[in-house]
Amino acid sequence: MLKVVVLVSGGGTNLQAIIDGVKNGSIRNTQIVGVISNNKNAFALERAAREQIPASCISPKDFSSRDEFNQEFMDAVDGMQPDLIVLAGFLVVIPEEMIQKYRNRMINIHPSLIPAFCGKGFYGLKVHEAALERGVKVAGATVHFVDEGTDTGPIILQKAVAVEAGDTPEVLQRRVMEQAEWKILPQAIDAIAGERISVVEGKVIIK
Ligand code: GAR
Repeated sequence: MLKVVVLVSGGGTNLQAIIDGVKNGSIRNTQIVGVISNNKNAFALERAAREQIPASCISPKDFSSRDEFNQEFMDAVDGMQPDLIVLAGFLVVIPEEMIQKYRNRMINIHPSLIPAFCGKGFYGLKVHEAALERGVKVAGATVHFVDEGTDTGPIILQKAVAVEAGDTPEVLQRRVMEQAEWKILPQAIDAIAGERISVVEGKVIIK
């Protein structure tokens, strides 16, 4: 059984897609053992509570230094002994020590086709604003392993989504979530749980 910890900051629709996937059997052999949010008002915490998944808030704001936060945060994650950490709209920089410890065992969902519209400053709605500003005709989402860079780790799955005339950032964001994020994130977790994923020379191979 793959033990998964999900890190969230906001609405938690990707967390919900994972919860639903575990329940309906599209994500096999997986248990969500905990949810951590940096934002006490995140609706994602409510989603976890509804399912009796242990959930807590650990915010950098509540610590006098970043080091103290990092230590508390890493202890909380380690305490749940995860096989996989999923960043599902988590907007806090991951401590380097944690990246090393969980190399190829920590994944992120990003709302663009990496390497477009990614890196520092590209998160949430900003990604879709930038895509519409550039006039792209195809948007999408990417699931990737987390490495030391921002959105630079090995790519696991990507899915393209059409941009339509009259799209606002909000409308495009919703379509990318529905048609891409909520599909490829559960698929990636199922593939990891099924031991169908390996990383060779920085690239993902799916069996
Ligand atoms: C999602 O669109 C996710 O791809 C994005 O934040 C949103 C969270 O929504 N993540 C990033 O931008 C990370 N760089 P959710 O809380 O409803 O899952």
